[in-house]
Amino acid sequence: MNNPATANQPSTWSQRFESALHPAIARFNASIGFDITLIEYDITGSQAHARMLAHTGIISPEEGDQLVSGLEQVRQEFRAGLFVPGVDAEDVHFAVERRLTEIVGDVGKKLHTARSRNDQVGTDTRLYLRDQIQQIRTHLREFQTVLLTLAEQHVETLIPGYTHLQRAQPVSLAHHLLAYFEMAERDWQRLGEIHQRVNVSPLGSGALAGTTFPIDRHYTAELLGFAGVYANSLDGVSDRDFAIEFLCAASLIMVHLSRLSEEAIMWASQEFSFITLTDSCATGSSIMPQKKNPDVPELVRGKAGRVFGHLQALLVLMKGLPLAYNKDLQEDKEALFDAVVTVKACLEATTILLREGLQFNTTRLNSAVNEDFSNATDVADYLAAKGVPFREAYNLVGKVVKTSIAQGKLLKDLSLEEWKALHPAFEADIYTAIAPATVVSARNSFGGTGFEQVRRALAAAQAKLC
Ligand code: ARG
Repeated sequence: MNNPATANQPSTWSQRFESALHPAIARFNASIGFDITLIEYDITGSQAHARMLAHTGIISPEEGDQLVSGLEQVRQEFRAGLFVPGVDAEDVHFAVERRLTEIVGDVGKKLHTARSRNDQVGTDTRLYLRDQIQQIRTHLREFQTVLLTLAEQHVETLIPGYTHLQRAQPVSLAHHLLAYFEMAERDWQRLGEIHQRVNVSPLGSGALAGTTFPIDRHYTAELLGFAGVYANSLDGVSDRDFAIEFLCAASLIMVHLSRLSEEAIMWASQEFSFITLTDSCATGSSIMPQKKNPDVPELVRGKAGRVFGHLQALLVLMKGLPLAYNKDLQEDKEALFDAVVTVKACLEATTILLREGLQFNTTRLNSAVNEDFSNATDVADYLAAKGVPFREAYNLVGKVVKTSIAQGKLLKDLSLEEWKALHPAFEADIYTAIAPATVVSARNSFGGTGFEQVRRALAAAQAKLC
């Protein structure tokens, strides 16, 4: 009779095992369904490990070459769709090693010398994330570029500025868009900082305690482009701080995209009508023929939740783990992979939305900033500039806002006599002083919405992208 362990799991476990895993447990245990994402990183990591084994004399140079080219063949087979490992492989690491041994013969069994899947999976995950971080940073740059292009077109387009979602003071639309540029800039920087901590090699930490072989960890780190190596092998195999940090950064990107999405959704409503969605980024209703729905920003807003969830999942995953590797750590991958896919998709969709999916209704925006009391601060500032104490001026303007509302008037509708009756300091120039373009232009403090400041900010933003 065949030993069921060797029948179901050829050469996976040592002779210590006498019977096979229950099929449902094998499925439960397996990560191949998702860690296949790591396959190319696994191959690259293994090639560096094989080179190091030859470099240090642990295996012969010929054996090293055989392993490296055999691994390359596994890569090509995978790319060609000829190598599709199943659940019997358990995980991507076993799958690659097994296929390698089929290709190169017994020498393939030497690959795992002085290594464990624990340091291997840590290496693969870092190689993967390092790559993905750079891709996300590229997406962020594209998002910033489109924000900047749009901002450049709308320096003098005014839009109501809100606090508490109440009309507060008008601002330049470019200024509003550049606020998102700044958020994305921090996201881009944050990922750059996290990249430094992702880019550290755990390879050679072994299962947990290092290895008896005379390996050279710095050699593999250099081959793989890591900036350094983990100083402590226990930490090397069990640290997932880098993944949590990434999920924090990913969550913040989603916060920013979600806030922009929320604004786009409001702006597209009939109540606001600040933007019109173009057909390429809007959908219709199956029953209400008049509808044009902002599905893209709604989905982005909705997808933020799953990324935050992955961050929570990893924090909870780690908080009670004793050193060093525990199988719980296998659960880091789906969270990480889904966050990466989600953030990239949301950045891409939002970039397209801004580039071609919406148009600002400048006529509507222009009338919006003319139909409210968002120039009230400017009346108070006008008096204060003429020597009236600001608090006194503020109270006076509060009074005139109240009577104007009662009379169905706006501040610009008051006659000069009415202004003068309120305070003798008012002159005919009050009308230009409270015109929306003047009040925006006048906020010329550094970082403010004054056109001069916005033009300076545009130039500074442009310089960041170069
Ligand atoms: N599939 C495993 C994971 O993703 C690889 C490491 C397994 N290590 C172990 N000691 N069982 O974490």
